[in-house]
Amino acid sequence: MKLFVSLMTFATLVIASSAALAANDNAAPDLVAQGKALVMHGMCHDCHTPKTFGPQGMGFDWSKTLSGYPAAQPLPPMDKQALKPGYWVLGSPDLQAWVGPWGISYAANLTPDEQTGIGLWTADVFIKAMRTGKHMGEGRPILPPMPWEFIKDMSDDQLKAVFAYLKSLPPIKNAVPQPVAPADVK
Ligand code: HEC
Repeated sequence: MKLFVSLMTFATLVIASSAALAANDNAAPDLVAQGKALVMHGMCHDCHTPKTFGPQGMGFDWSKTLSGYPAAQPLPPMDKQALKPGYWVLGSPDLQAWVGPWGISYAANLTPDEQTGIGLWTADVFIKAMRTGKHMGEGRPILPPMPWEFIKDMSDDQLKAVFAYLKSLPPIKNAVPQPVAPADVK
C-alpha cells in the first residue's frame, strides 16, 4: 500500500511537471522558429532568396537567404510589350525581378543589414508596411507581385514572429535596385 501511494505521488508529480512544461511552451513560444516556418510556408523565399542553377534546374542559394535581387546582376533581355496591360507579365529566371504595367520591380533585401536591408525597421514599421501596402508603412505603394494583400491577413503575433525571424538572419549587404517606372524603362 505504501509503495502504491508513493508511485501515485510520483505519477502525479510527472504529470504536473509535464503540464507545467506545456504551459510554459504556450506562454513563451519560440518566435524565431515560428517566424521561420511562416516565411517558408508564405513562400517568401520564392522571390526574396537568390537562386542557383545547375543540371537539376533552379535551387535556392541559402548562403544568401532572403537578401533580395542581387545588385550586380544584369536583367535578361526583355519584351517591352509587358509594360502594357493585357500582355504577359515577365519574371526573371530567379523570380526576383518582375516586369508588368507597373514597370520593373525587384524583390527587396529582407536581411537586417542597416543600409540595404531592414536593419533599421521596427516590428511596427514591418506590420504597417504589410497591412497598408505602402513602403515602410507610409511611402510609395509596394509594387506587384509582392503579395502584401495576403500577408496583411496574418495576425499581429504571426507578423511579429516573421519579423523576429528576419531580424535573426545574418545581415547581407546587397543594395537591391530601385523600381523603374514604365516610362523610364530603357
Ligand atoms: C511573388 C514574389 C514575392 C513573394 C512571394 C514575396 N515577396 Fe516580398 N516583395 C516582392 C517584391 C517584387 C518586392 C519589391 C516591391 C517594391 O519595390 O515595391 C517585395 C518587397 C517586400 C518588402 C519591402 C516592403 C517595403 O516596405 O518596401 C518586404 C518587407 C517583403 N517584401 C516581405 C515579404 C514577406 C515577409 C514575404 C512572405 C510572407 C514576401 N515578401 C513574399 C516580391 C515578393
